Amino acid sequence: MRWWDIDPVLELERALFPEDAWSRGMFWSELAHARGADATRLYVVAEEADGRIVGYAGLVAAGEQADVQTIAVEHKLWGSGLGARLLTELLRAATAFECAEVMLECRVDNVRAQKLYERFGFEPIGFRRGYYQPGNVDALVMRLSDPSTSLNGARGTESNG
Ligand SMILES: CC(C)(COP(=O)(O)OP(=O)(O)OC[C@H]1O[C@@H](n2cnc3c(N)ncnc32)[C@H](O)[C@@H]1OP(=O)(O)O)[C@@H](O)C(=O)NCCC(=O)NCCS
Repeated sequence: MRWWDIDPVLELERALFPEDAWSRGMFWSELAHARGADATRLYVVAEEADGRIVGYAGLVAAGEQADVQTIAVEHKLWGSGLGARLLTELLRAATAFECAEVMLECRVDNVRAQKLYERFGFEPIGFRRGYYQPGNVDALVMRLSDPSTSLNGARGTESNG
């Protein structure tokens, strides 16, 4: 993802996260840390053949730990395996950053996303009460240890799909 992708990404972001969409400034700030020798972020976009952006995902690495910051796919492509491909890219990045574990938070009611994460080996480890505002929705915290191992499993799953 580059700065010129932010407008189309924001359009998807507002459609997919109507209650707590990231602002333009948040994407700018994340991308500011995604380049150069000291980069701590990886942000990717998925494009159709004509260049239209249909998905995106981002990860931050801090020492031994990486965090999935966001992952999103255009609604009409849900179930197509694109979410899995984006997550694979993030885990590849976590492996390249030499992170021993990957964490994420997910709305407790977002079963589709949880299924995807579980398929990659993420396990629920706790809750953050009222994490998502407004709405006071709890977050499920999930952890994946050794992302490089899961990467092999994910590749296997992808080839079946
Ligand atoms: C979560 C998201 C990125 C998944 O993208 P996707 O392209 O649908 O992902 P995939 O097709 O690779 O996998 C989705 C998986 O969800 C599960 N799933 C499929 N249909 C489901 C359903 N009706 N209910 C629950 N889970 C379902 C399956 O495990 C499925 O994998 P499979 O079809 O290979 O068995 C996408 O739904 C999205 O953008 N949601 C809105 C944004 C969001 O919630 N992001 C995550 C924040 S934590």
